[in-house]
Amino acid sequence: MDDRRPRVVRGDGVFLYEETGRRYIDGISGSYNHCLGHSHPALTAAVKQQLDTLVHACNIGSSTGLPETLADKIRDRLTQTGLTHTFLVTSGSEGVEAALKMAWQYQVSRGRPQRTQVVAIDDAYHGCTLGAMIATQRAFINDGALPLLGAYSMSMPAPASLDDLPKWQTLLAEHESEIAAIIVEPVMAMAGTRQFPDGFLRALSDLAKQYDIPLICDEVYCGIGRAGSFCEAVAQGAEPDIVIFSKCLGGGFPITAVVATTAVVDSFATHSVPLFRHGHTQSGNLLGCRAALFILDYLDAHHCYETVALKGARLLQRIREDLPTADGVISIQGKGLMLSITFESSQACDRAQLAARRHGVLVGTADRHLKLAPAFTIHDTEANELAERLVGAIRGTSQ
Ligand SMILES: Cc1ncc(COP(=O)(O)O)c(C=O)c1O
Repeated sequence: MDDRRPRVVRGDGVFLYEETGRRYIDGISGSYNHCLGHSHPALTAAVKQQLDTLVHACNIGSSTGLPETLADKIRDRLTQTGLTHTFLVTSGSEGVEAALKMAWQYQVSRGRPQRTQVVAIDDAYHGCTLGAMIATQRAFINDGALPLLGAYSMSMPAPASLDDLPKWQTLLAEHESEIAAIIVEPVMAMAGTRQFPDGFLRALSDLAKQYDIPLICDEVYCGIGRAGSFCEAVAQGAEPDIVIFSKCLGGGFPITAVVATTAVVDSFATHSVPLFRHGHTQSGNLLGCRAALFILDYLDAHHCYETVALKGARLLQRIREDLPTADGVISIQGKGLMLSITFESSQACDRAQLAARRHGVLVGTADRHLKLAPAFTIHDTEANELAERLVGAIRGTSQ
């Protein structure tokens, strides 16, 4: 058996192909972002049309109107949340950095520049650029830069139940004068699709408000339908101050939206330079904007938020039924089309990933967690094939 990484040259829906014609089911949608599968003809056509018209225009000296249209579309989906202003960047890590900078700038505008610390949750992944690593709490990523990051990072264990809320209350009460922001993933991707106890995020957002600490919800992975709703934090009843959407927003084209409340954005106006002082050459990239505009309409028109929740529940049930939590498998969890199988060790997980590849299925891993995030457009027969091949592969490794 050839165990090299597959060299894929073509994609079609949930499938990827090598030059030899060998076919793989893409169980992770590229890097969790091809929500409409590979080479979706209408998405490609929309982007191609933009490509033929105007590839890029500087958003500082001129405007094409496209980023503004995308910002409006996002705001329309967040009515009654207070999240009104969208700032566009390219990657998820850039989005996290922009969000952190907004929170820091908010504190400066409020006359509290000493509030510099960012509280994040153990095992959280928020990106691997230098600023984003302040929030990321994974030794594997952070070790090389610890002296720099430690000065700005605080971490809390993931809550096991609502009984953990008093610990947060104590943290905020004791460190109120140092904390600039709290950042969480409403569903923790790399920590095995870890979900918060019911009501936790809402309670945390209430607590953060009490201390005027912006709550940043990183929905780079779980947002835009992946977990079954447009905005997972809002679905959990929370009132975040800043939300970051990325992967499924562009469906493979690079675009990230950082959405902030009027209160956060208005605070900048109290400063002598009434701006969020930030921007990149590719901010509001037109190809990414065009893809995002198409995708947001598509998800609504095809009722994708509902179908993702249903398809995910079915896939989870199927895998749970067929894969006993024994022989190295500790647990299987999922929310929407965001699933994880947790193994007793990272070695067992790596073996399962390799076996899945041999069975024609591509999956991701993070430590002991094998990750699945198929396209929203996956058909029942394809989902069944995915589950069957994956379960067969994992069973094979444990025998
Ligand atoms: C929750 C979360 N935040 C941030 C990032 C970083 O995004 P990017 O890889 O686009 O920089 C990721 C990437 O997987 C992520 O899952």
